[in-house]
Amino acid sequence: MKLCMNDVLYAISDALDCVEHEYLGATTYHARRVAFLSAITGKALGLDDRSLLNLTACAVLHDNALTEYGLSELRHGVDLDKSPKLFQLRDHCEIGERNVQAMPFYQSCPDVILYHHEQADGNGPFHKKTADTPLLARLIHLGDAIDINISMHDFSEDKYRKVTDFVSSGRGSFFDEEITDAFLSCFTSEAMQSISGDEVRRTLHDMLPVIVNDYPPQQMTRISAMFAHIIDFKSEFTSHHSTGIALKAAELGRYYGYNEEMQSQMYFTGAVHDIGKLSIPAAILEKPEKLTHEEFTIIQQHALITYEILRQVTGLEEITDWASFHHEKLDGTGYPFHKTAAELNHMERLFACLDIYQALTENRPYKKAFSHAEALRILYENAADGKLDANIVTDIDICFRHEA
Ligand SMILES: [Fe+2]
Ligand SMILES: [Fe+2]
Ligand SMILES: [Fe+2]
Ligand SMILES: [Fe+2]
Repeated sequence: MKLCMNDVLYAISDALDCVEHEYLGATTYHARRVAFLSAITGKALGLDDRSLLNLTACAVLHDNALTEYGLSELRHGVDLDKSPKLFQLRDHCEIGERNVQAMPFYQSCPDVILYHHEQADGNGPFHKKTADTPLLARLIHLGDAIDINISMHDFSEDKYRKVTDFVSSGRGSFFDEEITDAFLSCFTSEAMQSISGDEVRRTLHDMLPVIVNDYPPQQMTRISAMFAHIIDFKSEFTSHHSTGIALKAAELGRYYGYNEEMQSQMYFTGAVHDIGKLSIPAAILEKPEKLTHEEFTIIQQHALITYEILRQVTGLEEITDWASFHHEKLDGTGYPFHKTAAELNHMERLFACLDIYQALTENRPYKKAFSHAEALRILYENAADGKLDANIVTDIDICFRHEA
């Protein structure tokens, strides 16, 4: 697949910000601001373009494990009270490090996510001091700490002074001297204005080279699996949903005789189709009781959010539609766009069918997993009612019958 991977990562980071907001109080575009703050400091220290791209990729994914970590904490009854203890910080660093091992940049920057909360004085979760902490990790720590303590979502001169005071006061203890001095030498009030509100999107885009790479199918599958993993852990009840759809989509691709490239695009679509769910509060996704009308409306928003996230990425136009229309129905009763049969192509119809098939064959708080035969009975009923494509339902029946 041909992609600008950093574009994909920025888009995903906007969704991850919602999780960080839920658990740690971060504000919109937190990850992009962390990328910018660490990158200007890295630039001041003389990092080249390749290292800056690796740095920003790690920066936008720095808290990729918060879904998994947050969920395991909630399961064990820990109150995520916006002031995590050191042992809690360790968990999301370790899980986050493991998750990014599939990323193409990983070989050039191991241990960056692992040590993104280490402090110069060794009082971080792993007690590493400056000499034992990779430079990129120290840069991300600086950007993250600034934006969590003094959100730069909106600009004021007063806030600018707060930021420089905060960084200066941490020199030699919270932050190492070299990084503190580099940051203070390049951080101006104009720079701060350039990342307030939506501006950060353009500022970051203009600052870094746009590199489009062609990722071979096998590598793309590993990367997609990582995205699916992060998304699925948002809710225990759907913890294999995206992964399941990705695998089944690729299998259907093989059944149709599509080439490997197409199969990997289908796998990717399945992996990210519910990315909008990252911005739905876990309390609603995890609620075992019947949802209120209002809560159901909130959950439904995830399909539109998936669309808004994916359409930012150049080169993903077709896949954005395949993924975002998975709740549309042929008779126009679906959401979010109320598309009708004439507006839905084969691939869009396929993901609508697969999403229901996967959901029916999963355990949920209110029901046990249905067998293949039970699920197919419901899919055929939907097809007879004019909601789903009957031919695709038959293909799913043939393709997955052996798994029943
Ligand atoms: Fe973190
Ligand atoms: Fe953060
Ligand atoms: Fe969905
Ligand atoms: Fe789904």
